[in-house]
Amino acid sequence: MKKKLIAGNWKMNGTLAANEALVQALLAGAAGNDCQVSVCVPAPYLAQVQQLLAGSGIDLGAQDVSQHEAGAFTGEVSAQMLRDFGVRYCLVGHSERRQYHGESDAVVAIKAQRALAAGITPVVCVGETLAERESGLTEEVVKRQLAVVIHTNGHGISEIVVAYEPVWAIGTGKTASAEQAQQVHAVLRNQLRAATPQADKMHILYGGSMNAANAAQLLAQADIDGGLVGGAALKSADFLAIIAAAQ
Ligand code: 13P
Repeated sequence: MKKKLIAGNWKMNGTLAANEALVQALLAGAAGNDCQVSVCVPAPYLAQVQQLLAGSGIDLGAQDVSQHEAGAFTGEVSAQMLRDFGVRYCLVGHSERRQYHGESDAVVAIKAQRALAAGITPVVCVGETLAERESGLTEEVVKRQLAVVIHTNGHGISEIVVAYEPVWAIGTGKTASAEQAQQVHAVLRNQLRAATPQADKMHILYGGSMNAANAAQLLAQADIDGGLVGGAALKSADFLAIIAAAQ
């Protein structure tokens, strides 16, 4: 059976000291768990967290990757650089990147391609805004976002992870109900099925105010294969409780 994947997205949080305490607590608490666990950390802390996670079952993740391979792109971090630090997963197209940095569907698709070429699993984030949901556009929006990634990556699509993160549920305390989330996950699964025979083996994560109290119900849905966790990933007890709910 496919193991659940629980990925923490630390966003722009952390210090050397706080990271060490958090990772040590996760290593102590997550030992022997039966799901895949990853932490997506800010780029300057990749080396630190790589060392802390060495030899453990927890995978290192990054939060973004450049659409370019190398060269004169000041401030950017390439997929190959992430690979140098043992990065296994990389978020692409997080709604905060789309919203605050103008990332288009086409740019997100190229970022996924760069990650795949470097042997990194892109976690492609899709999700509708509140206005889009209220206008009945949820399915149309997430399908459009994923379609460009499928079109750009061809057969490589079976190697990606998809994360459904309704924008209105991120950091707001408003979680999609398990039924609302499952409905969208089923739409995404069918879209993947049309693109690859591997669709049922792929992970589709839910993200948006997932916490210790609501994780079990969300993770029990047929097409919810794990979680992408923001705020609750910064507190070891909360993140460990979500990992426990995924067993
Ligand atoms: P919260 O769990 O804080 O809502 O964040 C979700 C998210 O954006 C994960 O990528």
